[in-house]
Amino acid sequence: MMSKYSINIFKYIFFIAALTSITLPAYSELSVEEIIKGRKALFSKNYSTAKKVQTFASKGDFVKASSLMKEMSENYLTLLEYFPDNTKEGFKTEALPSIWENKDEFNSLMKKSSTDMIELAKVIDTSDDVGASLQKFMWSNCKACHSKFRASH
Ligand code: HEC
Repeated sequence: MMSKYSINIFKYIFFIAALTSITLPAYSELSVEEIIKGRKALFSKNYSTAKKVQTFASKGDFVKASSLMKEMSENYLTLLEYFPDNTKEGFKTEALPSIWENKDEFNSLMKKSSTDMIELAKVIDTSDDVGASLQKFMWSNCKACHSKFRASH
């Protein structure tokens, strides 16, 4: 039979386990390496998605193109969280210090890039110049941001 003492031990273990599971998210926050590599991966993904958007829209497949545009729009919003103060250097980042010196401007460009993709999805099927619309609402934002906030190669 279990002694009163061992029942208390079980209660104690249960209590610690409950505490640990509550505090776990704080310890599992992304490391600097995961953040920098994570944002690079997201930008690369957006680049390959942008090329697919270009292909589908040029073929007149606006349904597929629009769903990818919405995906890109969401990725831009996710990226807003990927530039905390402790990720200015390391892991071959090409992010320039100007990002943190002009955080509001950088964030507005990111948000504009996101809303422009939604706008693009709205206008693309009635656009009389698909290429010009893609340029205006998608590609121009890449360049606007890179020229100021990303190291040139
Ligand atoms: C609001 C700013 C912003 C916008 C908009 C933006 N980028 Fe970038 N991009 C960056 C920054 C900053 C980096 C550098 C990230 C790093 O190295 O930490 C980057 C990096 C990249 C990379 C390199 C990823 C790697 O593996 O190192 C590619 C590719 C890229 N962007 C493509 C694009 C394309 C294509 C678009 C438009 C469809 C775009 N970006 C829009 C800011 C932006």
